[in-house]
Amino acid sequence: MAYARIEIAPSILAADFARLGEGVRAVEQGGADVIHVDVMDGQFVPNISIGIPVVASLRKATRLPLDVHLMIGRPERYIEDFVHAGADRVLVHQEATAHLDRALSMIRELGAQAGAAINPATPVAALSEVLDKVDTVLIMSVNPGFGGQKFISGAYQKIRQLHEWRARYNASFRIEVDGGVDLGNTAELMQAEANTLVAGTSVFHTADPADAVRRMRRVATEAISQRV
Ligand code: DX5
Ligand code: ZN
Repeated sequence: MAYARIEIAPSILAADFARLGEGVRAVEQGGADVIHVDVMDGQFVPNISIGIPVVASLRKATRLPLDVHLMIGRPERYIEDFVHAGADRVLVHQEATAHLDRALSMIRELGAQAGAAINPATPVAALSEVLDKVDTVLIMSVNPGFGGQKFISGAYQKIRQLHEWRARYNASFRIEVDGGVDLGNTAELMQAEANTLVAGTSVFHTADPADAVRRMRRVATEAISQRV
């Protein structure tokens, strides 16, 4: 199934945490669709970032949907807290829980959109039994934990495979890609039928984050118009 509008989801991991409100306003002005929020626990991934209070503050700072990417072990322990703090979408890792099905159901029961994420070493097939329980599948195109890493090109094939399954089973989940996304791979990601582009460094580590979002959308829109 084809989506009319692709989503650009700036990742605030690359923003200045002391000036988050300004960063969010800038990308809003550039037409960002979603704000991507990376939560890391120092266990599931080798880095610690931000948590529930920051999601609550962001909720007050923007009307855009908050896409909360939980890179934490046993995420089911905190799903309710994140939804109550204002997460519109909650993404949990297949590798982080023995009970992915339960975690995804919890998210939907709490009224949020459910996403399942997989690391570069995890095959798409690891999600085959939960595709009817997700609003989004997140393909990691770097090993999670840090911004600014190089895009791992195995992600293209995973996106194509997911798109094929989506069409075959008439499903409607979005395909989101996260890590090393920039103007150089945007067109190919669109050709592969990705729907949501998460971009940290390529948006916030520029002189004009609003313009970076606009340019990414331009490249993506152009690529879609050429899709065969
Ligand atoms: C990585 C995070 C990403 C990260 C992307 O663990 O999940 O969302 O912020 O950053 P860039 O776009 O710099 O690779
Ligand atoms: Zn992320």
